[in-house]
Amino acid sequence: MTSSLLAEPVSASLPFDPYRGLPDDELEARIRLAKERLGDSLLILGHHYQQDPVIRFADLRGDSLRLSQLAARSETCKSIVFCGVHFMAETADVLSRPEVEVYLPDLSAGCSMADMADLDAVESAWSDLAEVLDTSDLMPVTYINSTADLKAFCGRHGGIVCTSSNAREVLDWAFARRKRALFFPDQHLGRNTARAMGVHLSEMPVWDPRLPLGGNTPEALNASRVILWKGHCSVHQMFKPAHVAQFRRQFPGIKILIHPECMMEVVDQADIVGSTEFILKTIEQAPAGSSWAIGTELHLVHRLAAAHPDKAIHFLSPMVCMCATMYRIDLPHLAWCLENLVQGTPVNRIKVPPETAHHARAALDRMLALKSLATPESSSVPAR
Ligand code: 13P
Ligand code: SF4
Repeated sequence: MTSSLLAEPVSASLPFDPYRGLPDDELEARIRLAKERLGDSLLILGHHYQQDPVIRFADLRGDSLRLSQLAARSETCKSIVFCGVHFMAETADVLSRPEVEVYLPDLSAGCSMADMADLDAVESAWSDLAEVLDTSDLMPVTYINSTADLKAFCGRHGGIVCTSSNAREVLDWAFARRKRALFFPDQHLGRNTARAMGVHLSEMPVWDPRLPLGGNTPEALNASRVILWKGHCSVHQMFKPAHVAQFRRQFPGIKILIHPECMMEVVDQADIVGSTEFILKTIEQAPAGSSWAIGTELHLVHRLAAAHPDKAIHFLSPMVCMCATMYRIDLPHLAWCLENLVQGTPVNRIKVPPETAHHARAALDRMLALKSLATPESSSVPAR
């Protein structure tokens, strides 16, 4: 144990390197001790995709929507350590009380989907669209899996944030106010949700930021209801229709349960589609003896299988579809982050600049004010 390190206040942060390669049992003991010392001043939030050794230290866990609600409601803590990815920690910083400081144990825990749309590209798309459309008729909607400055862009333009739990209600909100939506960065969540609401595929052009006018004609953009940003989740795009067919052949009667970040061709073959929290609830409520193939992040599916031995739970792909960036939050980084907090030399603070935070909060608050948030079970696409 390095309790002497914890007791001595020093000005320099503890370096990370000595934590690499420490045995798990030592890291776990040090994490427990640091948590004990920090007491109620610390809240550890964990996303459901987090690996087992780390998620067991989370005080509260959830999907993106629930975690943002938990950050907004946190009352006693002074620090939130976020076991998730960068955009989630940014959201927690924007929504938590001003005196709360948010930390991400490894700053390289990003999100490849969030990286597919940046502020410059979205601003340039917006001004290109203004050449061919009336942008006062266009509602910017960003998936929560995006940087804070894109949420701020939405905030400044009267737009809103959505998560996979409430995308349908958010699009309803958008259509009640404007003729069409620009949905970024996940084309699949946008397409799956809008299609379930009756929007035709021909009304959903894809905007490729590398092409002039996003690769579209002015006519196609004028006929659009939802303009879909060309982004995707590298984890959920690994599930294919062939995997569904294979499971149905091998296990007649099996139910296919997938996340709406999966591509439309997989959604078409699935039985039930819904957010991470919805997937959890569905399996909890499923009868003993039922059989499921689940298309979402690997760690969550393995945990569900272990927690429900009375049900047959399979992972819907022969490939290892895990969120590699979320996986960067490991025991060494968590121990390092917490011991630095104990020592008073915090590392890896996530602080959204005040002006950005103000506008991002406007877009997040519009989402959090939606009525459906009392029922995170809502799914984007009904069961077949
Ligand atoms: P939810 O947490 O909204 O289900 O989204 C899944 C995801 O990909 C998180 O990054
Ligand atoms: Fe991003 Fe996909 Fe990982 Fe979620 S699962 S954090 S969308 S890469």
